[in-house]
Amino acid sequence: MINAKTELYGIIGHPVSHSLSPLMHNSAFKALGINAVYLAFDVTNLNAAIAGIKELGIKGLSVTIPYKEKIMEFVDIIDDSAREIGAVNTLLIRENKIFGYNTDWLGAVLALQEKTELSGKKAVVIGAGGSSKAICHGLNKHGASIHIINRSIEKARELASNFNAGFSGLNEDKDIYGDILINTTSIGMTGTDTQGQLPVDDKFIQNFKVIMDIVYSPLQTPLLKSAHEKGLSTIDGLRMLLFQGVKQFELWTEKLPPLEVMQKSLYNKL
Ligand code: ATR
Repeated sequence: MINAKTELYGIIGHPVSHSLSPLMHNSAFKALGINAVYLAFDVTNLNAAIAGIKELGIKGLSVTIPYKEKIMEFVDIIDDSAREIGAVNTLLIRENKIFGYNTDWLGAVLALQEKTELSGKKAVVIGAGGSSKAICHGLNKHGASIHIINRSIEKARELASNFNAGFSGLNEDKDIYGDILINTTSIGMTGTDTQGQLPVDDKFIQNFKVIMDIVYSPLQTPLLKSAHEKGLSTIDGLRMLLFQGVKQFELWTEKLPPLEVMQKSLYNKL
């Protein structure tokens, strides 16, 4: 029941029409009987969008592509991890101040910890963009060693220097091995020119115990399919999305998030 007391949350990004976050957060508000709604705002002018959020009484926002870095200019108080990662994916508006957090790295850690410990493990991360940065931050904080593989080796080198990590170019390695393999690129995603493709040669996949993909369309990517066939442990692309959302919900409501409900809302949709 929407009324004069309903609190407003949402996601800002461009494009956002395919976002699964409204489904996830609205199902959680409903399950806990919280009088709030979460909407998708397709924003092309970030300054104009942010100008009104305090005065309109918006309580919290998710921030997605392409604004996770630019939004930092508008945040009054920024959390340490978000500053270290250089990206904010969550805004909390309290007492006329905008607080900025990053829950992506926490989402990745929680998704990984369902299947493996991180301390002392060797992780190979494919990709060196925003998602990779957040994931590497989480791996590093939890004591895993990191090797970054990226199409542009310069970006791999730059990111690796933050974590004392190894790096190499895509398709350059004679051998790739470790405990955990994580794809943070769009390789294999439906609708791209890499649809149906693997991010690394199939022969390397068996050199790992746990395989994680952040692509969730399709849910079973070529990488996860191959890992599954080899009997390896897999983490699909909805796990990180789910857990970053769970952490957002916790920040906004200070309540225990209804994990099962949020999970169902995502998996039923796909
Ligand atoms: P995100 O925020 O999702 O991480 P991003 O910051 O644009 O997005 O990063 C995308 C990552 O996927 C990059 O590492 C990119 O490689 P480059 O740095 O060489 O551009 C990688 N990527 C995207 N499409 C790719 C493709 N077709 N083949 C290989 N790497 C790809």
